[in-house]
Amino acid sequence: KGSIIMKLKNVGIIGVGSYKPEKILTNSDLEKMVETSNEWIVSRTGIEERRIAEDSQATSDLAYEAAKKALENAKVSPEEIDLIIVATMTPDYFTPATAAIVQDKLGATKAAAFDLSSACSVQVYALVVAQNFIATGAYKKVLVIGAETLSKVLDWTDRNTCILFGDGASAMVLGEVEEGYGIKAFHLAADGSGEQALLVPAGGSRKPATSETVENKEHFLKMNGKEVFKFAVTVIPDTVAKTLEKAGMEMSDIDLIVPHQANYRIVSAAAKKMNYPEEKFYMNLNKLGNTSGASIGLALTEAYENGLVKKGDNLVFVGFGAGLSYASLVLKWAY
Ligand code: UT7
Repeated sequence: KGSIIMKLKNVGIIGVGSYKPEKILTNSDLEKMVETSNEWIVSRTGIEERRIAEDSQATSDLAYEAAKKALENAKVSPEEIDLIIVATMTPDYFTPATAAIVQDKLGATKAAAFDLSSACSVQVYALVVAQNFIATGAYKKVLVIGAETLSKVLDWTDRNTCILFGDGASAMVLGEVEEGYGIKAFHLAADGSGEQALLVPAGGSRKPATSETVENKEHFLKMNGKEVFKFAVTVIPDTVAKTLEKAGMEMSDIDLIVPHQANYRIVSAAAKKMNYPEEKFYMNLNKLGNTSGASIGLALTEAYENGLVKKGDNLVFVGFGAGLSYASLVLKWAY
C-alpha cells in the first residue's frame, strides 16, 4: 500500500591492491630478541617472517600505497570515489579518522571518510558496509582499505604476541557489477564477553594514559592465545555455514576461501571441521604474519595476482578476532 519497491544493485569488488613494507623481520631475528625458536614459531603458527613499517610510516601511509594500486587495478580515479572506509585497529590517531588523511593524500576530493574498528574481522564488516551504500544507490564507488601497523602496539619483549603480528595494507574498490555477480550473502557477529581475550588495556577511556600505564606496558597488545585459538576454530565453520545457507550455496560451490591469516593451525583445524580441503584456503601468513584488518585483502590480492581468482569464481572471506568478533561473506568474482 503505497510502498516503494527498490531494486537493490549487485555490488562486487572491481579492483584490488596491497602494500607490504620493505623491512622483513624473520623468525631468526626474533630468536635474538625473545626466548623463542624458528622451529617453535613455524610449527605453532606457520609464520616464517613478517613485514615491519618504518618508524616514519603511519597506518595512513601504508593505506595510501595500497589504495593507489587498487584504484589502478579498478581503472577508477580518486575523484570518482564516494566513500573511503579504513578498517584498522592501529589508526594514525584517536582522532581524526585515518580515512580522512588517506582521502586528502589520494586527492579523493568528493569522498566521505571514516574508520571502522572490529579487529581482525573488520575488513569483512567494512565490505558489507560498503555494499549497502552502493546497493541502495546512495554511492557508486567505495574504497575499502584494511591497514595496520601492529608493530607499533606490540611489546617486543612478550614472546606470546610479538612473534605473531606484522604490518601491511590492502585495498578493494567496490562498485556495481553485472547481475549474478558480487556479494551474495554475509554474516556478521560478535561476542563481547570475550573482551579481555585480546586487547590493548590502556590509552582509551577505560584507562587513560598515565606514566604508570606506560611503565606497565599497558599500551601494548595483550592476548590469551589459547582462548582466541579455540574461539576461532569454532566460529569459522559456524559463520561460513550461516553465510552459505543465506546464499543457498554449499561448500562444494566454493572455489576459494580467503581466511583471516592468524595461524596455520587454526585454518587447518577449521578446514577439517568443515570437511573442506585445506588447499582451498588461500594462505600467505608464512611471509606476512597476522596483519589483522589488512590480512584478508593481502591474501586476496596475492591470490588474484597469482591467477587463482578468476571471473565467475565463488569466494568466501572469513574473519575472526578481538571483540571477540567474527564475520564472513560469499561473493562471485566479477572481473
Ligand atoms: O587475529 C587473531 C589473533 N590471535 C590469534 O590468532 C592467536 C590464536 N592463538 C594462537 O595462535 C596460539 O595459541 C599461539 C600460537 C599464540 C600459542 O600456541 P599454543 O599452542 O596455544 O601454545 P601455548 O600458549 O599453549 O604455549 C605452549 C608453550 C608454553 O610453555 P609451557 O607453559 O608449556 O612451558 C609457552 O610459554 O610454549 C611457550 N611459548 C613459546 N615458546 C617459544 C609461548 N610462546 C612462545 C614462543 N616461543 N614465542
